[in-house]
Amino acid sequence: MRLVWLFTALLCFLSNIGFVLNQTPTPVANVTLNNPITTVAGIYSQTTFSGDNGPATSASFTSLQGCTIDYIRNILYVCDDHRIRAINMNTNTITTLLGSTIGYAGDGGQLSNARLNATVGLAINPYLNLLYIADTGNHVIRVVDIGAGRIDLLAGTPHTRGYGGDGGSASTALLNAPSSLQLDVANNILYVSDYNNYVIRKIQINSRNISLLAGIPTVSGYNNDSGPATNITIKSINQLGFDMINNQLYFVDGSSYLLRKVDLNTNIVYRVGGNAGQAGDGNDGGPALSSYFRGPIGVAVFPQYSSVYHICWYQIQ
Ligand SMILES: *[C@@H]1O[C@H](CO)[C@@H](O)[C@H](O)[C@H]1NC(C)=O
Ligand SMILES: *[C@@H]1O[C@H](CO)[C@@H](O)[C@H](O)[C@H]1NC(C)=O
Ligand SMILES: *[C@@H]1O[C@H](CO)[C@@H](O)[C@H](O)[C@H]1NC(C)=O
Ligand SMILES: *[C@@H]1O[C@H](CO)[C@@H](O)[C@H](O)[C@H]1NC(C)=O
Ligand SMILES: *[C@@H]1O[C@H](CO)[C@@H](O)[C@H](O)[C@H]1NC(C)=O
Repeated sequence: MRLVWLFTALLCFLSNIGFVLNQTPTPVANVTLNNPITTVAGIYSQTTFSGDNGPATSASFTSLQGCTIDYIRNILYVCDDHRIRAINMNTNTITTLLGSTIGYAGDGGQLSNARLNATVGLAINPYLNLLYIADTGNHVIRVVDIGAGRIDLLAGTPHTRGYGGDGGSASTALLNAPSSLQLDVANNILYVSDYNNYVIRKIQINSRNISLLAGIPTVSGYNNDSGPATNITIKSINQLGFDMINNQLYFVDGSSYLLRKVDLNTNIVYRVGGNAGQAGDGNDGGPALSSYFRGPIGVAVFPQYSSVYHICWYQIQ
């Protein structure tokens, strides 16, 4: 059974454990339907940075955004404003991996000199221990070789927002507030929500070639439920979710109240749930295509599980 789950918070998952990031005020939660909620990091209602090198449950966050899990090493990485923090799930210890100071710096060098600005999304290739960071305030995507302790620019032009560069090298392209990231099953394609361009971009990791996957650049709107991916418009591109078994890229179009997907086998976009332009609640238990959403933000895909995950606000549990 394939499940697609919508949340009002951002979520990442490992096996049958879901991690929920609650953005206002913060923490990180570990939630399953059949188990009580356990807070794994953060303090309810506390929004100051604290707690590095101690237990994650005694730490606090400034601004929780995306997360990703290295399921080989059992480390949960989370975006905390300009910092990327790492929670070792075996020892429950939290540290800052990089980005103690806001700004832009460090490419080609050590993590201790790296500066980021308002990070929103993460993706990891656990086999090569490479972490991809949507460095949203800098309009770029950075890549961290965690083993080597080195940071580089993958895509975008630092400090420069815009749209450009498709068909060429990602590192000279223009993005405008890149946010959610997803890697394909081979860890060779990075899908990026290019938030202020209202599109999804696609980066071939090996060749660094960037291209447009879905949406019409800089055009925000709704023109059709389905059609060729580069012929449909997106009103707001929120979180991405990747179904690695069926090769489908789900995305939340929050301003259209829609859950949509790109069939990556055909590059056709389809509506999965919600009704365009119609906010509402209802039809739980009925067909998704007859449902209504009110402000969807996040999506998580569980292609191989029949279990369901749940959220609550304010904590990573
Ligand atoms: C998360 O919940 C699962 C299921 O209850 C549990 O086995 C696991 O230890 C929890 N992890 C953390 C970090 O609390
Ligand atoms: C961070 O990013 C924002 C948005 O791009 C920008 O306005 C601000 O000047 C940046 N701050 C620093 C310290 O670079
Ligand atoms: C870049 O990727 C796009 C889409 O996959 C493809 O059409 C284009 O030919 C590629 N460009 C180069 C230089 O490889
Ligand atoms: C919507 O897309 C379908 C399939 O591509 C097409 O047949 C139809 O004409 C489109 N409708 C509009 C209003 O663009
Ligand atoms: C592309 O979009 C336009 C405008 O929405 C529509 O008229 C046309 O039918 C679409 N083309 C295809 C092939 O779906």
